[in-house]
Amino acid sequence: MTESTHARVAEDSAEVVIVGAGPAGLVLANLLLRAGVDCVVLERSGRDDVENRARAGFLAPETVRVLQRHGLDGGLSRRGQQHGVCEFRTVDGRFRLDYERLGKGEPHTVYPQHELVADLLGQYVDAGGRVRFDTEAVSIDDIGGSAPTVTVREADGRTVRWRGRYVAACDGRHGAGRRALPPGAVRRHHRDHGVSWLGLLAEAPPSIDAVGYAVHPRGFAGHMARSADITRYYLQCARGTRPESWTDKDIWDELDLRMRAEEFGPLTRGRVIQRTVIDLESDVLEPLRHGALFLVGDAAALISPSAAKGANLAVLEAEILALALVADLNDGDPEPLTHYSARALDHIWRAQEFSHWMIRLLHAATGTDDAAFQEGLRHSRMASLRTSAGHQDWFAENYVGM
Ligand code: APR
Repeated sequence: MTESTHARVAEDSAEVVIVGAGPAGLVLANLLLRAGVDCVVLERSGRDDVENRARAGFLAPETVRVLQRHGLDGGLSRRGQQHGVCEFRTVDGRFRLDYERLGKGEPHTVYPQHELVADLLGQYVDAGGRVRFDTEAVSIDDIGGSAPTVTVREADGRTVRWRGRYVAACDGRHGAGRRALPPGAVRRHHRDHGVSWLGLLAEAPPSIDAVGYAVHPRGFAGHMARSADITRYYLQCARGTRPESWTDKDIWDELDLRMRAEEFGPLTRGRVIQRTVIDLESDVLEPLRHGALFLVGDAAALISPSAAKGANLAVLEAEILALALVADLNDGDPEPLTHYSARALDHIWRAQEFSHWMIRLLHAATGTDDAAFQEGLRHSRMASLRTSAGHQDWFAENYVGM
C-alpha cells in the first residue's frame, strides 16, 4: 500500500477489484485466485456477519455443477440435502410434482446459503486470497479507462483508493456498482409485482417432505426446508406490514389455515427466529458491462424469491465472468469479456420469466380491474399443471433449470 502525495489517500491495487463478499463475489474471487489472477474482495460487513446472514439455500443442479467443477462444493457435498418434489395445496386438494423424475429430471440441493458463503470464504482465504472486511466502497470511478478505481472507507474511517484493471460489482442492488453507472448508459427494466411476503425462519423441523406451495383465498403460504431443524416459511401479507405485528401464534395459526393443516396434517411449530417483509419486485439492468466495470448477481438484476433463483444466477454469472477475465488477463483474449453481458442476460431473463410465472400462479391478482378474469386464468394454469404431463415437464425444466 502506498500513500499518494497530493490527497494523502492510501492506495492499493489488484488486477481485479471485487466489491461484495456474497455468492457472486466469492465464487468470482475463488475462480480468479485459482487461475493466478491477482484480485481482492472489499466487503463492507464483518466476517461474522457475512458468514451468518441467513438468506436462500435452494441450489439448482447447474449451480452445484459449477461449484463441483471448481472444487468449491466441499460443505455442500457433505451436508447438502437433495429435494426433488414440490406439493401444491389448493381449494381443489393437493397434488405433488416429483420434478426429479419429470422433464430432464434433476433435484435441487438444499444447503443454507450462509454455510455456502462461509465455505467459499474459507477456501478463498486459506488459498491466500485477499479480502478486506468492514470496508465499504463509497465510489467506483474511471470505469471508462484501463485503470478504474474503487474508493473505500475502512472501519477506522481511513480512505483507501484501490486501483485495478477491472472492477466487479458484486455488491447487490444498493451497492456502489449501480451508483457508478454513467447516467443514460444503462436501461433498467423494473417491475413491482404488487405482492409482499412475510419471510420467516422457524426453529422447527420441516413439516412436509417437499417444497410446499399453498394457494388460499387469504393468500399464499410457502414451506421450504432449510436444514433438519430449521424451516423457511412465507406468508403473503399486505404491503407495509410490520414484521413485529405478527406474534408467533398468529403466524402458526395463519400457516395452518392457508396450508390446510386440518386436511393435510399439522405443521410442526417452533420459535420464529427471523421475520422480514419482502416486497416482491424484479429488475434487470442492461448492459451489464460498462468499460472496466462488470455487474454480477443482484447488482446486475434483482429477482423475486418466488422460484429461489437469485443465488443460483449469482453463481452462474460469476463463473461466466471469471472465465472471461482469465481469458483476457492470462491469455490476452478479450473476446469472451465482450460477450459477458449478453450471456448473463440470457440466463437472467429466463429466470425472470419463470419467477414471474410462479408469482402469477401463486397469488391472486390484486388492484386490477380484470381481477376476476385473472383469477380464472390462474385456476386454469393450476389445473393444467395438475393434469398435463407436458406442462409438468415444462415446469420441472424451468423450476430447476438455469
Ligand atoms: N461496499 C462493500 N460491500 C458491499 C457494499 C459496498 N458499498 N454494498 C453491499 N456490499 C456487500 C454486502 O454486504 C454483501 O455481503 O455486497 C454483498 C452482496 O451480497 P448479496 O446481497 O448476497 O448479493 P449476491 O452475491 O449478488 O447474491 C445474490 O444471494 O443474497 C442472496 O438470494 C439472495 O439473490 C440474492 C443472491
